[in-house]
Amino acid sequence: MVLETVAIAIWAMLPAYVPNNVAVLAGGGRPIDGGRSWGEKRILGDGKTWRGTAFGTAAGIALALLLNRLNPMASETIGAAFPTFPVVAAVSLAFGAMLGDILASFLKRRTGRERGAAFPGVDQLDFVVVSLLLTAVVATDWFLSTFTLPVLVAVLVLTPLLHVATNAIAYALGLKNEPW
Ligand code: CTP
Ligand code: MG
Repeated sequence: MVLETVAIAIWAMLPAYVPNNVAVLAGGGRPIDGGRSWGEKRILGDGKTWRGTAFGTAAGIALALLLNRLNPMASETIGAAFPTFPVVAAVSLAFGAMLGDILASFLKRRTGRERGAAFPGVDQLDFVVVSLLLTAVVATDWFLSTFTLPVLVAVLVLTPLLHVATNAIAYALGLKNEPW
């Protein structure tokens, strides 16, 4: 029962987990803020690029569509019903994750944190919160039937753990400059 809930939570959030990691691999090029500052500080900074955002979002959407195809087999194997992603939810989960990360950088710059500085709590949850909120708004029925209270609790507990683990791995592999 608990394992089922955890499996469903991870499945439902995979399209939101993948974009930030793909952005790390695909990032570079023109920053979204075009190098502009607000007051003394950059609006977003060089760590938020058009290319990273586009590839990250596209990867999350593609993964959701792939999961839809694997769903019958996976659901049968585990004996529970994994959610299928309507296109609108695939887009909101993936793009919401990127948007959350961008908003966090905006907040980091406003609070005087340089690019790459840690912002404990915000770094780990920014993308989940915004991706869930956006999905709740644009795919309300799907959101309510997928993110039941136990699934939502599992998401909020698991995400920071997965985030810390994947970033530590990306750092150890030399893909990321900081382990957060
Ligand atoms: N990245 C990107 N576009 C995004 C998000 C991330 O290109 N929308 C890439 C950048 O190369 C970035 C790297 O992924 O440097 C790591 O992402 P992140 O840790 O979110 O950015 P930081 O460089 O640490 O910058 P910030 O302090 O603003 O989070
Ligand atoms: Mg960072």
